[in-house]
Amino acid sequence: MTSTLSIRTPDDWHLHLRDGEMLQAVVGHTARQFARAIVMPNLKPPITTVEQAKAYRDRITAALRASQGADAAAGFTPLMTAYLTETINPAELELGYGEGVFSAAKLYPAGATTNSDAGVRDLANIQSVLETMERIGMPLLIHGEVTDPAVDIFDREAVFIEQQLIPLLQRHPGLKVVLEHITTADAADFVATGPDNLAATITPHHLHINRNALFQGGLRPDFYCLPIAKRERHRLALRAAATGGSSKFFLGTDSAPHPRGSKESACGCAGIYNAPFAIESYAQVFEEEGVLDRLEAFASVHGPTFYGLPLNTGTIALERSGSNDSIPGLMELENGSTTPTTLVPFHAGEALNWRLNQAQWHTKAA
Ligand code: NCD
Ligand code: ZN
Repeated sequence: MTSTLSIRTPDDWHLHLRDGEMLQAVVGHTARQFARAIVMPNLKPPITTVEQAKAYRDRITAALRASQGADAAAGFTPLMTAYLTETINPAELELGYGEGVFSAAKLYPAGATTNSDAGVRDLANIQSVLETMERIGMPLLIHGEVTDPAVDIFDREAVFIEQQLIPLLQRHPGLKVVLEHITTADAADFVATGPDNLAATITPHHLHINRNALFQGGLRPDFYCLPIAKRERHRLALRAAATGGSSKFFLGTDSAPHPRGSKESACGCAGIYNAPFAIESYAQVFEEEGVLDRLEAFASVHGPTFYGLPLNTGTIALERSGSNDSIPGLMELENGSTTPTTLVPFHAGEALNWRLNQAQWHTKAA
């Protein structure tokens, strides 16, 4: 059996890094595995201007330098996104994209998820924004769920595709679209059979768990995220999509840390913190499916190719885990304050086949 696995340095095409103490606590986990990450803009207030995005980018780099040192900060590139509101100025997007500050813009249907209140209620209200993005080739990243409370939560992605996404792609046939964190066979099929300008990210957790995990032995808030995990047949369809070799599917963790008290509460927040062992989690899936040789394309090639960015030039090495290598049940993370941030990582208490052996900082993409 192979005992080491070396792949081209991967990127994370969907990530929540937060701000302040949480940012400082978590950013090192991503930077040790990934050379770049598409950073979600759902802060409070959301990132809607070029100046805000630049300032946030600087805070990310500063937090990485403070927590992991200068080499770590030099080797990680945060790729910034704009948060689409109904009043965002298309000229601001064009400016930011032209300057290389914005890599993409994110569409949150208002009310769909964490900090989405400032999002879009009616796509008709951002028509000129979408026309601009289509013209300049700027990718639109979509949280694909309808928000109508009358639609069952497990159906919201499939209904979004029918009611919103199909008409949107018809109105903007040249728009580059990434359907983020897909969770259903419907989405996997739709993307697989769609045009080349349509792709999707897939999280590690949706490859590992189905909706039963939320209720295994009791209510399990650490498995609650949006879009919510679906039935087993959907998980299997996602595994087939991720590991099948199609360039339309690529890695996006949707790692979304919330303080432990906000998860384990009467109204717990949505979001799974998978950043600490993300590449290991994906490697496990590819190995279980017998296609470890396809991990690199999914993790390191399909994403940059879709975004029109160079591939990373370095490599990361994974090693087979030892018998004592189980994932911690809790992580107490330094954050620059006197009290550490406590987070429950995805796979808490489990053993995974592979382990990134040590912190390794990358050199920048060419
Ligand atoms: C994300 C968050 O907490 O910001 N939560 C989640 O469950 N994925 C938002 C999102 O991506 O929907
Ligand atoms: Zn997300």
